[in-house]
Amino acid sequence: MLSSRYPPVLECRMPSWKGVIEHYRQWIELPQAVVPVTLLEGNTPLIPLPGLAAELHVAQLLVKFEGLNPTASFKDRGMTVAVSEAVSRGARSVICASTGNTAASAAAYAGRAGLQCLVLLPAGKVAAGKLAGAQAYGAQIVQVDGSFDQALELARALSERHPITLVNSLNPFRLEGQKTAAFEICDKLGGPPDWMALPVGNAGNITSYWMGFRQYLNGKLPRLLGAQAAGAAPLVDGHPIDDPHTIASAIRIGRPARGEQALEAVEQSHGRLLAVPDEAILESQRDLAREGIWVEPASAAGLAGLRQAVQDGLDLSGQTVVCVCTGHGLKDPDTVPQATAMHTVPAMLEAVEALLEE
Ligand code: F0G
Repeated sequence: MLSSRYPPVLECRMPSWKGVIEHYRQWIELPQAVVPVTLLEGNTPLIPLPGLAAELHVAQLLVKFEGLNPTASFKDRGMTVAVSEAVSRGARSVICASTGNTAASAAAYAGRAGLQCLVLLPAGKVAAGKLAGAQAYGAQIVQVDGSFDQALELARALSERHPITLVNSLNPFRLEGQKTAAFEICDKLGGPPDWMALPVGNAGNITSYWMGFRQYLNGKLPRLLGAQAAGAAPLVDGHPIDDPHTIASAIRIGRPARGEQALEAVEQSHGRLLAVPDEAILESQRDLAREGIWVEPASAAGLAGLRQAVQDGLDLSGQTVVCVCTGHGLKDPDTVPQATAMHTVPAMLEAVEALLEE
């Protein structure tokens, strides 16, 4: 029988899943009348990494693979709530600035709801899969000759001057949705992990996780380990960065909109905020790919931060750690973690066999 040949090594997705709003409605601040615009986002797997756990001397290390959301990043959790709320108010259009993933997600949910979607992107700085996503879902795309931070200022100003809803994480409904990832982790583990490691860019996600854990748990809370890229680490450096640089384009941000809240969350959780060099991010991206989890570079920053903290003496023995991998590797096909050699041969058996013998 199928079931005996294929034991459920990993927990499977819930068959009756109806998206994060339906599942966690009582925990989400959202008017009752709001009808969900959903792509059945959320309910992403927690995947164990026993090999890396042993290497880092962690009792249990798990990846929350948010790249398995409908548009391949965690943004869908917040976007379902922000777009549903906008529709309920009669909004006709939404706007966001983005390093790419927010844009693709906004475009998908807005398109589904029949809203116009305008996205402002830092010109030439958005990974190919994200740009393609925003185009595929039908966004109106404006490339701004400047940084993400400048694009966000423009998006914010436009939303104040025109009847168009801002769906960046400055919109509180985005956080309401994103905090559901914290609920899922607690539900699947039967309680909180000891540590949560995740990348920090505009700082909406770490803020949302902290909101979620505080709301959902009585008693012990996890400690947050936030990782910024070393060339784009305004919160670690203690000042805005005018020209942020990192291979992890998703978190190439110099003025995080939710920076203050992120600092508070890390402090309240007795956690850590670290700056990780690009080489360490790429190394962690390779480590994850070897485990079968291909993520975009920014998504590997959490694991890189964890490794750095362990090297600095953080003792995680006996602890459960969850690393959030925020976006899928297909988003950024130009940053392949372990590009292997390719051969072109004549369509002949011997030619391929010759390669087998190498
Ligand atoms: N990881 C990925 C894959 C992201 O796309 C982002 C943010 C982050 C991490 C950081 O999350 O901003 O909440 O701290 N991407 C935004 C965007 C900025 O426009 O897609 P954060």
